Amino acid sequence: MGILDRVMRTTGLYDNLQPHFFDAMVVPFATIGQINAAELRFLARITRNLEDDGPIVEIGALFGRTALMMAANKKENQRLITVDDFSWNPCGFSPDQHRRITRSVLADAVEGLDVDLLDMEKQAFYDGYDGPPPAMVFLDAMHSYEATLQDITWAQSVGAKVICGHDYCADWPGVIQSVDESGGVAEIVESLWLLKDVRQD
Ligand SMILES: C[S@@+](CC[C@H](N)C(=O)[O-])C[C@H]1O[C@@H](n2cnc3c(N)ncnc32)[C@H](O)[C@@H]1O
Repeated sequence: MGILDRVMRTTGLYDNLQPHFFDAMVVPFATIGQINAAELRFLARITRNLEDDGPIVEIGALFGRTALMMAANKKENQRLITVDDFSWNPCGFSPDQHRRITRSVLADAVEGLDVDLLDMEKQAFYDGYDGPPPAMVFLDAMHSYEATLQDITWAQSVGAKVICGHDYCADWPGVIQSVDESGGVAEIVESLWLLKDVRQD
């Protein structure tokens, strides 16, 4: 044991700091900004029920939790593209730390489950997208009215068969407004929304 460790333990500093470590690192890591268990289950069901085998696009990977759920429930060989510019995380990690964590969480899915983690700003992805119409677009990056409307409009413009996203709730009135103006909610679990397909009306 080094001298610093000995001082930390004998003075009680170690015991006193440990709860703060958990508050600062583990609690945000486990909760803020990520979808909850009921929403994950709903996202899994939406993914399993996709009829089309076009790519799945996620905007906002964070630490890869939702991407892993979609990867586990998508069709074999179906591509899953998850886009993040690592501009925000709930733990105060630097963009490089954030990037390293997400890459390592998703490493085996990238290696063996046709998952692509794209390190880029969403507008650059939208501007350069020349793939087939997505089977699904899952939107969970920025939650302002303008940003969400832009995301939904892009997904509709490329012919996405299913459009869904997170945070249709009082904390994010811009999500509610943009979803309602774009066709409204077909189904919602907690704050995970599935957009009504206005083409079928
Ligand atoms: C709420 S988190 C996503 C949570 C994730 N879907 C989950 O539940 O596990 C939002 C993510 O969007 C990313 N983001 C924010 N603005 C972005 C932008 N303009 N382009 C790409 N990614 C962005 C942030 O870096 C962050 O990782």
